[in-house]
Formats: sequence, C-alpha cells, structure tokens
Amino acid sequence: MKVKMHRLFEVLLDSTAADPEAVVGFSLAASPRLGDFLDDLDPAMSLDWNNRDFRGLPELRTHVLRQAGLEEVCDLRDVLVTAGAAEANYLVLRQLLEPGDEIVVETPGWPQAPVLAAAQGARVVPVARVEEDGWALPLDWLAAAVTERTKLIFLTNPNNPTGRMLGRAELEEIVRIADGVGAWLLIDEVYAGLEWEGPRAPSVAGMYARGITTGSVSKALGLQGLRTGWLICRDAGLVQDAVILRENSSEIMNVMGEAIAEIALRPDRYRAGLARARAEGRANLRRMDDWVRGETRLGWIPPEAGLIGLGRLGDGIDGDALARRLLDPPYRTFLLPGSAYGLPGHIRLGVGGGAEANLMQGLERLSEALRDWPE
Ligand SMILES: Cc1ncc(COP(=O)(O)O)c(C=O)c1O
Repeated sequence: MKVKMHRLFEVLLDSTAADPEAVVGFSLAASPRLGDFLDDLDPAMSLDWNNRDFRGLPELRTHVLRQAGLEEVCDLRDVLVTAGAAEANYLVLRQLLEPGDEIVVETPGWPQAPVLAAAQGARVVPVARVEEDGWALPLDWLAAAVTERTKLIFLTNPNNPTGRMLGRAELEEIVRIADGVGAWLLIDEVYAGLEWEGPRAPSVAGMYARGITTGSVSKALGLQGLRTGWLICRDAGLVQDAVILRENSSEIMNVMGEAIAEIALRPDRYRAGLARARAEGRANLRRMDDWVRGETRLGWIPPEAGLIGLGRLGDGIDGDALARRLLDPPYRTFLLPGSAYGLPGHIRLGVGGGAEANLMQGLERLSEALRDWPE
C-alpha cells in the first residue's frame, strides 16, 4: 500500500515554502560548517563507496557503539550505518511488519512508525502518554496494549515531542513486557546526548536480544544534512534483512556522510560538540521557560532531554490556526502545531537551530500573536 503523507510533513512542506524569519520549533543543535571538518578530511579520499563493508565504515561503527555505551556488549557486525535514524527506522519497519501484525506506538510520538506500519497493512495500537503526569508513558497501559500479535513496540527515548525520558528501570520493565510475547522493541534515541536532569538512558540493543536502537548525528551534533545514522541490534538476521532492503533502495551509505560523521564522533570532537550543544541548549531552554512563565495563554512541561517540548494553549486557541497566522506577515515565524502529533490544542516549542533560528524574535512575535488572539 502507498505510504500516506503525515501531518507533520505537510506542515514542514508549507513552512519551508513560506521562508520564515524566525523559528520556534527547531529540534537540532546549531549546525557546524563544512570548514570545521576540512583539516581532518583526506583530499585523496575516494568518492567510490567505502570499499570496506556494506554495514558502513568500521571506524564509524566503533564510535557509534562507544557513544551508546555498547562497546562491551555489541560488536561491529551489530551496527548498520544508515541515511539517518529515519532510514534505520524505515528498514526495520519495512522488513519486520507483515499485514495483520500489531505494532504498539506511543502518542504523542514520532509519526514515521504509524504511517509506515499502516502502509504495510499492520494494525497500529496507540498508548497515550499522560500530560498531567509530565507526559509519562503508563507502563500498565503499555502492557495491556501488547498481545500475542504484537510484532514490534516502537518508542522514542527521549520522546519526540515531549522530551520526557524513560530511565533504566522503566526500560527494563518494557523489555520484560516485550519479551513476554517475543516482540521486537525499537527505541529511537535520536535525541540522546542532551539530557538535562540525569544520565543518558541505556540503549536497548544492550538490554534485549530483540532490542533495536536507532540514532544519528542529526540532533545533538546538529549534523542533520549529513544523513548519517545507524541501527544497532544483536540479532544477525535483523541486521542482514536491513542490509538486503537497503541494497534495493539506496544500496550503500553516502561516503561523505560517513567520513564527516566519523570525524564528528571521534571522542575529543564528540565531547566538545556535545558540550557546546548542552551549554547552548540549557541557556535557550531557560529563556524559553522564563518566556512561557510570562504568558497567560500558554503553559508547558519543560523537556527532561532534547531541545523540544509541547506547549498547551489556553482555551479557544487552535494550534493550526495560530501556526498559520504566525507564518504570515507581520509575524513570519514558524511554529509546529500540535496537530502534527494529533494534539490540536498544543504547539511544539523548540530552542534549537542556533543564531539563525532568531528564537528570541520568534518568541516576541508569538507573544504578540497570543496577545492579539480573540478571547
Ligand atoms: C524521533 C525521530 N526519529 C528520527 C528522526 C529523523 O532523524 P534523522 O535525521 O537521523 O533521520 C527524527 C527527526 O526529527 C526524530 O524526531
């Protein structure tokens, strides 16, 4: 079946065409420049593929395991370098799900899984996070949603869009739930590395034989344009299935993405990149939090990790109408409406994008729009 357009993509398509002057929804750290990598790139590097492994550059896969804390548990054959976490998720969803299978997903959550699962003819079983409980995922509800027909549980940790984290104890419980029916458990960690309140959560690929971790250099390192991510899984058959599907789509990873990501994930550079993103993210989240506290028609639960969270609009304000109004002159500010996540009374607030996002200007304009909104 055809893959349907999801609402989040619809909004992104419209907003890029509108060329906004400020953005209040960015989810990734300020992006480095190509020049930041030139000294470490080899001008003699072949632009053929890496010529070494269909799973991706071995050095890069070593870094991937290290940043996930999996170097003692997994080996290089468990890692497949992909075109972003998006391709990693795609390869898994497309190869695992058959018509009639069930997939359990969280709401709000990343729309890629339900849209692809529906196209595969799988039944999507949502489990709602609870706003009153800081967007926690109720594990008793998750357990109740899982059946013998559940092929896959798909979660994001930290969660997109709320920034809520699952800690070790919760992950262990989720593994127990998945293992009870032999389900696969994919945890998308694309926002990992920017935890504000505690340590990074453990990666599920190290906790469960059917656990699949996906991630990328897109968010904490701001390298989305490289299209470089990964999946990690100790099940050799799953990784092989992903390699086979990729051979029939893009065949191999792009060599520049691999080379630059390998440099960015070298221990010293990775530490420095994360430190920069953390300092900037923390400062911007404080600004955002102060700003939200000054607004009477908006509230939010700040993210435990990552650069985005959900704002709840006051009564009578529709997120779609507000986002549309804000994109037009005189505001010219981009905001992701909560309808992208099935929550029309919310908006996504993000502090990423670096100086080019013009965050403070965007917040001033959002204040004006909220002030001017009819009661
Ligand atoms: C939860 C989640 N997964 C995957 C992606 C895609 O990321 P990548 O650039 O690594 O493909 C995003 C991007 O916003 C995301 O939020």
